[in-house]
Amino acid sequence: MQIVEQLAPLRETLEDIRERKPRLGLVPTMGALHAGHMHLVETALEQCDAVVVSIFVNPTQFGEGEDLDSYPRQEAQDRALLNAAGVDLLWSPPVAAVYPDGFATNISVGGVSTGLCGGARPGHFDGVATVVAKLFNQIRPDAAFFGEKDYQQLAVIRRMARDLDFTHDIVGVPTVRDKDGLALSSRNAFLTAEQRVQAAALPTIMQDVAEAIKIGGDVATILRDAKANLRASGFHNVDYLELRDAETLEIMTIFDKSARLLAAAHIGSTRLIDNIAVS
Ligand code: PAF
Repeated sequence: MQIVEQLAPLRETLEDIRERKPRLGLVPTMGALHAGHMHLVETALEQCDAVVVSIFVNPTQFGEGEDLDSYPRQEAQDRALLNAAGVDLLWSPPVAAVYPDGFATNISVGGVSTGLCGGARPGHFDGVATVVAKLFNQIRPDAAFFGEKDYQQLAVIRRMARDLDFTHDIVGVPTVRDKDGLALSSRNAFLTAEQRVQAAALPTIMQDVAEAIKIGGDVATILRDAKANLRASGFHNVDYLELRDAETLEIMTIFDKSARLLAAAHIGSTRLIDNIAVS
């Protein structure tokens, strides 16, 4: 696996890879790789001739008081994992290579960015859309792979790609879960042993909500009771638990089309998110 940290060698290396391996996949990450990321990488390797993984902890998608400084970093372990998986190129730029002095551009995606994580984390999706657009321009992939775990992020990226005429495939990859159902996330590393046990209440309660909605229960009542249930299970703050249109992410108060149940809740100082299909 080649490792590149600056734009000029990136372009040269990509040209060389493309000559031998025409279909190029991109897996953007912020590192601290776990089995969920590696599933994205495996999917990309299956669907493409060559795979580029980026590791960049993007400062512009973290708000004030969020966990940028403490975001888990494990460079050596990440590199070993990617190398063993058969990744062709690791793009691992420093902040100055992505945001040089004078950088003044912001990509803000309307509609799907509003509410949910966009409401709880103002500016977050501007940071995501801006850095992902840059990655698309830097790598020019034929397909880019993102986890459905960050469902709203995936919707924002799809919208941004359509609006800015990126024509490559955007592939959403299903969430990987632990045995007890908890979605894999780099932030799970912050949970104490006790919190880790409590955290499994999130997917369990979400499954119960999905079942209750499917059999025709009143959506508002089910969501209200489930939030109380989450609090009783150790989540001291529930940012949101909402039923949304699976495509447009518009709020649904009655279940009459394909939907997505999305949640974000805090356990200790860790914010966990999850989503499941209700269809
Ligand atoms: O999902 C992530 O890890 C990040 O939001 C992404 C897409 C790599 C952009 O920084």
